[in-house]
Amino acid sequence: MSSSEPVSEETEPMHVNAAPRKPQILLAASGSVAGIKFGNLCHCFSEWAEVRAVATTASLHFIDRASLPKDVVLYTDDDEWSSWKKIGDNVLHIELCRWADIMVIAPLSANTLGKIVGGLCDNLLTCIVRAWDYSKPLFVAPAMNTFMWNNPFTERHLMLIDELGISLVPPVTKRLACGDYGNGAMAEPSVIYSTVRLFLESKTQQGGSNIQ
Ligand SMILES: Cc1cc2nc3c(=O)[nH]c(=O)nc-3n(C[C@H](O)[C@H](O)[C@H](O)COP(=O)(O)O)c2cc1C
Repeated sequence: MSSSEPVSEETEPMHVNAAPRKPQILLAASGSVAGIKFGNLCHCFSEWAEVRAVATTASLHFIDRASLPKDVVLYTDDDEWSSWKKIGDNVLHIELCRWADIMVIAPLSANTLGKIVGGLCDNLLTCIVRAWDYSKPLFVAPAMNTFMWNNPFTERHLMLIDELGISLVPPVTKRLACGDYGNGAMAEPSVIYSTVRLFLESKTQQGGSNIQ
């Protein structure tokens, strides 16, 4: 599906007493080699949820657009500007913020991690995060080389991620795409999917959500 599809749709906000509906999940990818798994991640979620996707410019080097489900729109930085012509037009990052019940950034690059904790917003993905309403869940699944993961900045940035209320799906230790062995590989798409789904199901059981 083309990203020129209108994003704005009137849907019930996530609250008690409204009719149950599918979750609306915004999946976002940044520029890690684990972006090769983004199509798989979109397929996992689209069995269960309404999915829209966002990709940074760097992530497009790794994402095979043909691997995405046909009904998933992929928004890029170009769409942010091409969809806005004049005052009064919708602003894409705000519309996507409104639309999403949950956001999942997988893979999360070291660069985007640093930008998020610094409050920087110079592309579609980081503008969405900068405008995010933290009463809604935001998950991140970092993916980077072991040297980057073990760098002191990572620990500092993860502390800030936690303070913001962002949920971490931790990376795993294995042979990385670059050949190095160590921690920093993105959690498997199936693990990211089940983490988010279990979270939402437990929230629904507690009566905190009308999304299934
Ligand atoms: C081949 C290649 C692989 C890369 N893999 C990673 C990676 O796994 N994790 C990471 O954090 N950065 C990785 N980088 C660096 C990022 O792509 C770079 O920092 C980029 O600016 C990230 O932009 P973004 O955060 O806007 O997507 C890689 C770069 C190249 C050229």
